Amino acid sequence: MISDGSSQPSNKVSRKPTYSRFTQQDLPAWKPVLTPALVIATLICLAIIFIPIGLLSLSASENVVEVVDRYDDACIPSTNQKVGFIKDPATNKTCIRSLTIPKKMRKPIYVYYQLDNFYQNHRRYVKSRNDRQLWNPKAESSTSKCDPEEKTGDGKPIVPCGLVAWSLFNDTYMLSKNDAALPINKKDIAWSSDRTHKFSPNVYPKNFQNGTLIGGGKLDESIPMSQQEDLMVWMRTAALPTFRKLYGKIETDLEANERITVTIQNNYNTYSFDGKKKLVVSTTTWIGGKNDFIGRMYLAVGGTSLVFAIIFSLLYAFKPRPLGNPSYLSWNKTTT
Ligand SMILES: *[C@@H]1O[C@H](CO)[C@@H](O)[C@H](O)[C@H]1NC(C)=O
Repeated sequence: MISDGSSQPSNKVSRKPTYSRFTQQDLPAWKPVLTPALVIATLICLAIIFIPIGLLSLSASENVVEVVDRYDDACIPSTNQKVGFIKDPATNKTCIRSLTIPKKMRKPIYVYYQLDNFYQNHRRYVKSRNDRQLWNPKAESSTSKCDPEEKTGDGKPIVPCGLVAWSLFNDTYMLSKNDAALPINKKDIAWSSDRTHKFSPNVYPKNFQNGTLIGGGKLDESIPMSQQEDLMVWMRTAALPTFRKLYGKIETDLEANERITVTIQNNYNTYSFDGKKKLVVSTTTWIGGKNDFIGRMYLAVGGTSLVFAIIFSLLYAFKPRPLGNPSYLSWNKTTT
């Protein structure tokens, strides 16, 4: 039987909640009143914070010098036999391109390759790798999650196994300036954590790219994984279908209007899925590479705040109304 104190006065146990400010919903609370002055001040503060940050980011992005050269379409002789050309190991894939430096570029200058329409984020692609095998020399044969690149035809484990490693980008670039080679430093292009904690100095590539279908670059079997930096860069899979990956660094300054000759080995097959290949040479600033988006976004937010601050100030100055006037409530309005 459920009883409450009021109907049965003899019941000694009170069911009333003990009094506390919490149960009585009597805790202190902040109940701001959005007066016009407060709203306008907040908007002006937002504008003061956001607009300078936006301008700074835009100017930093403006200072980045970037040269982008799309070469996949230019580095192929006939337009209707692209896939046949790129798949034929006998064809000459060397391709000479020339870049003009628009503005002085200060070292270090970064060289990237950019692929378009390459979905490194596909679920089955991303999962097709085995990180244990990359780090543990005793785990050579743990090729479990690597389908469909686990073992060679005669059952030997592939190191590194999996589709990600198998599809390693294999175009190469050589730069020169006035017929003198312009060296590209390919050391330290991968994350240092990859070099020290993910790719082991005691694991060596084995049986890699030995099948009938070659997916991409080969690896030197005498170099341990911890020094295969192109592979590390490639295996940090990109989140979007258009991505850039670091190829190397140029450690000298380049002057405005200098002409750079690029000798490309156009090996990688992006033709069968209409992918584009671009070579990017770029400097960086504190904001990173060229990217106007952040600056524009900050300016948009700051600018909107400023515009609304001005509109509200004008309304407040020329058409004020008393705060909390009940005659504006819909049910108090006299309808015509
Ligand atoms: C480069 O990768 C392609 C696949 O995209 C492959 O067909 C070709 O044999 C590879 N070439 C070299 C030199 O590794």
